[in-house]
Amino acid sequence: CLSAMDLTLLGIGAIIGAGIFVLTGIAAAKSAGPAIVLSYVVSGFACAFAALAYAELAASVGGCGSAYGYAYAGLGEFIAWIIGWDLILEYGVATAAVAIGWAGYVNNALTAMGMPLPMTLLKSPVEGGIVNLPALMIVLTLAVLLAIGIRQSARFNAVMVLVKLLAITTFVAVAAFHVQPANWTPFMPFGWEGVMGGAALIFFAYIGFDAVSTAAEEAVNPQRDLPIGILASLAVCTVIYVVVAGLLTGIVPYHTLNVASPVADSLLRIGYPWAAAFIAAGAIAGLTTVMLVLYYGLTRVFLAMSRDGLLPPVFSAINKNTHTPIRVILASGVLIALIAGFTPIGDVAELVNIGTLAAFVLVCAGVIHLRATRPELKRPFRTPFSPVTPLLGIIFCVYLMLSLPPVTWARFGIWLALGLVIYFVYSRRHSTLNA
Ligand code: ALA
Repeated sequence: CLSAMDLTLLGIGAIIGAGIFVLTGIAAAKSAGPAIVLSYVVSGFACAFAALAYAELAASVGGCGSAYGYAYAGLGEFIAWIIGWDLILEYGVATAAVAIGWAGYVNNALTAMGMPLPMTLLKSPVEGGIVNLPALMIVLTLAVLLAIGIRQSARFNAVMVLVKLLAITTFVAVAAFHVQPANWTPFMPFGWEGVMGGAALIFFAYIGFDAVSTAAEEAVNPQRDLPIGILASLAVCTVIYVVVAGLLTGIVPYHTLNVASPVADSLLRIGYPWAAAFIAAGAIAGLTTVMLVLYYGLTRVFLAMSRDGLLPPVFSAINKNTHTPIRVILASGVLIALIAGFTPIGDVAELVNIGTLAAFVLVCAGVIHLRATRPELKRPFRTPFSPVTPLLGIIFCVYLMLSLPPVTWARFGIWLALGLVIYFVYSRRHSTLNA
């Protein structure tokens, strides 16, 4: 029953989260400086090209498995496995990253009420703390909620999106009158390399537009409305990001932004505690919906892969009482909670980004491949100027991947290696295609 408008709101609900509310500050302070706006433009381009590819595949191949499903139908089981394995990283680990961002804003609100948490309970061991307790707890709470079968309705999502957008509008309205142009110089303190490093980190802010495609089976007119939902939500978010990032670095010096809740903090520093409190509330509500969509997306990818025999049946085994895959939700929840509790947000986000970028590269390649091998396929939405646009998508995504630090590549390598072992030891033998 979802319309193009619902799908767009679903996209915005999934997209705007820890990326803009937290990572913008880290990326501006540590790599891009005020040129973080350029980082947003570069990442936006990569996503726009990938979004066009997603739109074509969502309209022509369809299904709720997102990129995994398109690859399964058009590119074969092995590529599908790699994409599915990347999506598990994307949705699972991103939930942890957003939880860490959520914790920052919760503490911001608690501090405003005079009850700040001790730093040791807010930071991971590598950052000098013991555990990020709120991040760990929110993931476990969401795991229980999802396990007992809670689902966001389109209406609840719409309300949350509104709250989030109101918070951002408040920021823009207040910040617009307090820009000190001097804060924008030097504009590119860390050079182009810094801009690209920033782009590779804040790419995280765009993740989620692909979640729109997982709603394919619930859309009234998927072939027309999915491309609209995907592209419209991405366009709205890009504009918001560039404006917010520009203002944020305009009202306070960029090097002061490496804090847990930069958007609220900056308003506090220019003397607007009420606006800061409102933004913290909006961020807490908004980040909760992002986590729900991502976590829910994770269970769908598990379900799709398990139905095809690539993951054990337990991943799609539905509990009779709750009608949810309860064991898998709880088990993955514990893992995600541990990541959220014991790792810094930047490291987690970069790992998510590299996995997602790899999946986007394969999706773009998929459009080119299917145009060649299945020219007769009905394509209600056609990526314009193919193969140029998907090729540009591949180039942009690979360039962003190359801008990520070696340690992220090493972690991604381990993740892929683990995936390959599982594929060749388990999945290939148990796959329904094999049977
Ligand atoms: N794009 C989402 C966020 O920024 C994942 O939180």
